[in-house]
Amino acid sequence: MKIDGLSAIVTGAASGLGLAAAHALRDAGAKVALIDRDEERVARAAEAIGCIGIGCDVTDSVAVVRALDAAEATNGLVRINMNCAGIPGGMRLVGRDGPVDMEAFAEVINVNLLGTVSVMTKCAARMMELNPLNEDGERGIIINTASITAFEGQIGQGAYVASKGAIASLTLQAAREFMPRGVRVMTIAPGLFRTPIAEHIPQEVIDGMLDGRMFPNRFGEPAEFGRLAVDIIRNPMLNGEIIRLDAGVRLQAR
Ligand SMILES: NC(=O)c1ccc[n+]([C@@H]2O[C@H](COP(=O)([O-])OP(=O)(O)OC[C@H]3O[C@@H](n4cnc5c(N)ncnc54)[C@H](O)[C@@H]3O)[C@@H](O)[C@H]2O)c1
Repeated sequence: MKIDGLSAIVTGAASGLGLAAAHALRDAGAKVALIDRDEERVARAAEAIGCIGIGCDVTDSVAVVRALDAAEATNGLVRINMNCAGIPGGMRLVGRDGPVDMEAFAEVINVNLLGTVSVMTKCAARMMELNPLNEDGERGIIINTASITAFEGQIGQGAYVASKGAIASLTLQAAREFMPRGVRVMTIAPGLFRTPIAEHIPQEVIDGMLDGRMFPNRFGEPAEFGRLAVDIIRNPMLNGEIIRLDAGVRLQAR
């Protein structure tokens, strides 16, 4: 899909990977709406890259519809949706204080999984009604963000692992469902990236990864995530797949 001139929505875009994706899409010619629950930061971030910023909590369905309407009113009907909004969810299933606090577990599922599903389905429903953009019949694309912990669940990452595993599982299912209407669904599963969320990763886990178990032996830069998003959008044969962006690392149990 040619990106130039298309309307794009990126969630979690006030910071980190979402901001980098918004930047990359803007550089590729998209008209980007940055969405984040941190209203002030998203406004500042959007202004800095010449886009629009919309304060919206992805767990609030009414607010999501309002945000999509606002984005479309300024930038046109949405063709690209990237979902990067997420929170860390470190917790043991059974810790020193007993079984996991279900409210804390549910909060992570609510933001990371249900927030992604809410934005994705609302965008997909709109995309499916649009005219095709090219001979393949492409109407739009959704890119979600999982994590390599979806495949190598580490001790202490309980709710986070569950939320990201579900996003990974949904990739093919959603792609199959939206295929007849020309909407692709892809997922990026990042490894270790230098963003604020990475501050929640225990130092011993980081040391374990940066120990010659990956190449390049360093944190990924957010711009490298943004670059992959652009490549995915441009290549129509990528659909229903999860791409690990992790320098070849495989996580240990802890
Ligand atoms: N950084 C990494 O190493 C890494 C690795 C694997 C996966 N990820 C995933 O990448 C995504 C982006 O993370 P990041 O590293 O850029 O972290 P980040 O903390 O820099 O960015 C996350 C953004 O999401 C926003 N957000 C959180 N809850 C929200 C909600 N309910 N509604 C709207 N916005 C909300 C935050 O305000 C923040 O701006 C997350 O889903 C994260 O789980 C990151």
